[in-house]
Amino acid sequence: MELGLKGRRALVLGASRGLGAAIAKSLVAEGATVIAAARSTDLIKAWAAELGPEYAAQIIPLALDLNDFTSVDSAADWVIAQGGVDILVNNSGGPPAGSVLQQTATLWQTHFQAMAGHVFHLTNRLIDGMLGQRWGRIISIASSGVEQPIPNLGLSNGIRMAVLGWSKTLASEVAAQGVTVNVVLPGRIHTDRVDQLDQGAATRQHKSVEDIAAASRATIPVGRYGTPQEFANVVTFLASDAASYVTGSTIRVDGGMIRSV
Ligand SMILES: NC(=O)c1ccc[n+]([C@@H]2O[C@H](COP(=O)([O-])OP(=O)(O)OC[C@H]3O[C@@H](n4cnc5c(N)ncnc54)[C@H](OP(=O)(O)O)[C@@H]3O)[C@@H](O)[C@H]2O)c1
Repeated sequence: MELGLKGRRALVLGASRGLGAAIAKSLVAEGATVIAAARSTDLIKAWAAELGPEYAAQIIPLALDLNDFTSVDSAADWVIAQGGVDILVNNSGGPPAGSVLQQTATLWQTHFQAMAGHVFHLTNRLIDGMLGQRWGRIISIASSGVEQPIPNLGLSNGIRMAVLGWSKTLASEVAAQGVTVNVVLPGRIHTDRVDQLDQGAATRQHKSVEDIAAASRATIPVGRYGTPQEFANVVTFLASDAASYVTGSTIRVDGGMIRSV
């Protein structure tokens, strides 16, 4: 299938490792030019070097801190000055684990801004270019926790619901102008974040990390964690011309882990 991504320009947030890095590499492999953003660009430069010099012109590292409004707004200025983007992948660092009862108003506000408020602002800044050319893709990465709340991930379960409501509303507002807006839900995709969560659960429950990971895998019908590439494949499709009639959707990439229909 021809994805039509050659020559497209994308901004991928949280692109230094894990899901964001896999998405950025996959878009590059399909011929897109990717502005790859994270707080530090060191890891982005490292994976770009590993891909080889033939891809160098397609990867533009950008330092951006989603906790900091000024950083986000300046990044938007810079991206617009470069001609804007066709594809925006809204991905962020996950919040700390903990029950909802543990969270303070300050923690809710801080993490809401990094995972939602500042992402909404960035999207507003970049979507005008997409609407003007009547083609665009907004893809936000959330979590299986929006459909099946994950114990001890209170901040994540709560804040990501806002991303869902925002995305669905935006999808209807811009659908007629060629811009699709979707959310993708990772189940358990093997990244540093998942290793850290497993380690945290092992410490809390006085179990080995291997036992925690085995119990987690046992809840997944496919029987294993997903790979970042398997997740990136779905995002890459949503970013493509081929996905032009998919909008306002929430798509699971979870190996069947979410139990509800
Ligand atoms: N992996 C899964 O199975 C899974 C499941 C459910 C939900 N999720 C969610 O999906 C997202 C990506 O997951 P992941 O596993 O790839 O996480 P990860 O391995 O921890 O990677 C997070 C990425 O976000 C960047 N980042 C963190 N804080 C940032 C900030 N303040 N500003 C800008 N960039 C920031 C990190 O780079 P820097 O540190 O350099 O900034 C890194 O590139 C997370 O929100 C995670 O909670 C993942």
